[in-house]
Amino acid sequence: MPHALPTDPWCLRETHFDPATHFLNETLFALGNGYIGLRGTPEEGYSGPAGTSLDGTYLNGFYESEPIVYPEAAFALAKTNQFMLNVPNAKGIEVWLGEERFDPLQGTLDRYERVLDFRTGVLRRSLEWTSPSGKRISLVTRRVVSLADKHLFALDVELTALNFSGQVRVVSGIDGAVRNQEAGDDPRIGSAVSGPALHLLAVEQGATASSLTQRTHNSGFTLVSAIDTVAAVAGSASRREQAASHSFTFDLDVMLPQSLTKYGVYFSSRDYPEAELAGLASAALSKAKADGFDALCARQGAYLADFWDRADVEIAGDDALQQGIRFNQFHLLQSVGRDGKTNIAAKGVTGEGYEGHYFWDTEIYIFPFFLYSKPEIAKQLLAYRYAGLEQARARARQMSHAKGALYPWRTIAGEECSAYFPAGTAQYHINADIAYSIKLYLDATGDLDYMASAGAEIVLETARIWIGIGNYDRAGRFCINEVTGPDEYTALVNNNYYTNAMAQMHLRFAAEIVDTLRGARPHDLERIVQAIGLDDAEPAAWRRAAGRMALPYDAALGIHEQDDSFLGKKPWDFAATPKENYPLLLNYHPLVIYRHQVCKQADVVLALLLLSDQFTQDDKKRDFDYYEAVTTHDSSLSSCIFSIIASEVGYQDKAYDYFMETARLDLDDTHGNTHYGVHTAAMAGTWMGVAYGFAGMRVADGALRFAPTLPARWQHYQFQIHIQGALLQVRIDATHARYTLLQGEALGLTHCGERVALTRATPSLSIARPLQEEKA
Ligand code: BGC
Repeated sequence: MPHALPTDPWCLRETHFDPATHFLNETLFALGNGYIGLRGTPEEGYSGPAGTSLDGTYLNGFYESEPIVYPEAAFALAKTNQFMLNVPNAKGIEVWLGEERFDPLQGTLDRYERVLDFRTGVLRRSLEWTSPSGKRISLVTRRVVSLADKHLFALDVELTALNFSGQVRVVSGIDGAVRNQEAGDDPRIGSAVSGPALHLLAVEQGATASSLTQRTHNSGFTLVSAIDTVAAVAGSASRREQAASHSFTFDLDVMLPQSLTKYGVYFSSRDYPEAELAGLASAALSKAKADGFDALCARQGAYLADFWDRADVEIAGDDALQQGIRFNQFHLLQSVGRDGKTNIAAKGVTGEGYEGHYFWDTEIYIFPFFLYSKPEIAKQLLAYRYAGLEQARARARQMSHAKGALYPWRTIAGEECSAYFPAGTAQYHINADIAYSIKLYLDATGDLDYMASAGAEIVLETARIWIGIGNYDRAGRFCINEVTGPDEYTALVNNNYYTNAMAQMHLRFAAEIVDTLRGARPHDLERIVQAIGLDDAEPAAWRRAAGRMALPYDAALGIHEQDDSFLGKKPWDFAATPKENYPLLLNYHPLVIYRHQVCKQADVVLALLLLSDQFTQDDKKRDFDYYEAVTTHDSSLSSCIFSIIASEVGYQDKAYDYFMETARLDLDDTHGNTHYGVHTAAMAGTWMGVAYGFAGMRVADGALRFAPTLPARWQHYQFQIHIQGALLQVRIDATHARYTLLQGEALGLTHCGERVALTRATPSLSIARPLQEEKA
């Protein structure tokens, strides 16, 4: 049995070194800052069998591109893939006791502990090791990827000889001979690149510093990766092809510790002019050395203290869950790009799964967490989409749309990278998902400046696509044909309910924005109208299409149809499907799956959440019952949505069970692929499960409301949200709901239909909750 990690509410702790969980733990113990991502591989590397480790270092948004080769091509298929590169490994440290190299798989590990602390942001490993010849050492390593400085990471090594005095050599190096893993048959894993993607331009070495300058072949980016090492003894430089290092020989006295600190930085021409990269790297290293490791740790702690003050979700009564939630939030913070040029990848910067691509996961799953917890980051996620508007316009033209913008299903730099269009480009709902996040942002902030400067242009340009692809049928319904909804086990259908309902919201929102700007910002509207050539008649056409939108409904079953054909398909034979055939996508041809009533993930059920007020409770219950029975949850994006709707319709047990599946999905590796990276959408789904699910939070047209429940095994839960210039704390316990205005002048909300007004004079109100049947 592999060792399970103990449950600790504020950290991840590993007390045994176990090759069976090593690969998985490389992901769980990964560090990142939204730009640099270091997998939790040890400094000394890993000498276990091939395929049991991936020593990855990633830079969010730093990619190579390669032509997508289609043996059978078609017009306007995505032409080029972009994939996040494994960049030079700058964290390597070798420890040599004479001829013996420290390696936990050789000799004996007498003691071992590794802790990832969510409050300090430091990954600390402490161990004692006996070499094959009997020399004993203690080694303590601390690793930090700076949350305050995008380019910097550092590590500190403390070494003690426990039963001998003598020389110990420590090699601190940087290795540029790295490559991405090869893709197998699993479409979720990685890229198809076959060789090294970076070629070497220069190696520079000084007394203690080394740097590599490399360039990508096709995307044409230059990267400078540099290290500097501080030790009490002088270093001697050495290099081999694509790698450089310094060796430090310590004369260790028994039981007297010696230490060494290493700083690493990455600068690329995606961010700065090429000629400046080397200078920037060396200045950043000098500054880091002058500040020192302790100052870096102090800054890290301060950054995280502020984050947790605002973002923490506290759950009393379940340590495993508490750990899962904080772990998820910590990884979201570590993964999210915050420079307006990068976004958050499906696996963050923890692995190569999904190639570092950004999906709708951002807008529909991850955006709410940042919007309500760290709105400055949410704004940067929106900025990223605005930066991609030109490419979205170009893509729309390739797809024969005369007007408007079509965002890519998956991308890094803005171009469509989906090589399998039925479950990629056909997911036109991406446009509505982006518009939805802008609406959510506007509702939460009232920020018309943003709408005038960027938001409106995105919303209007993307709305135009619905008119481009839709048409009125003979019954006068506005139909959207040949698209794929969120459920990837059903493809290329007519009138996917989710897509049409979201398009309806989008079209109405676009028309409203025009009206709002006409009243509040006429000059800005005029500028936008000129820039995009908006015709006076377009908003009316949007309203008309929205009003006549085809929204398939089966009156006999009383449920919304996933699309025009779904209910007419053969039911999937779940009873005859062995457990090992899940996920279905790895065991059946897509056509087999598409011909059946079987869902990979929430589709109609997701619409019930996002467009909550359009449905009655009875609608929601019937839809939930029907689609639950045909959903495999093979996608990690599914369970959290089912948990939220289960909560809303009163299925408290199910709400809890689906929530548990999401909250510890990576920690417990329930999808069996966390070694390729964390699942960022599901991580954020945990936050939604608490706020939207158990607390019943909804924001509709600027109005905030709650309808809280408390799972039976929790004593209380508590979280904060930033909304309308205020910071609100929500605390639910067995008898009361308490709403507290932590910042801001006033805030109005509704609790189970009852109006609550918080002001500076009355900043906190406790409302008795009706006793209810809450089982879990
Ligand atoms: C899901 C998509 C999701 C993608 C990346 C797929 O398995 O079906 O909805 O966008 O993973 O997370």
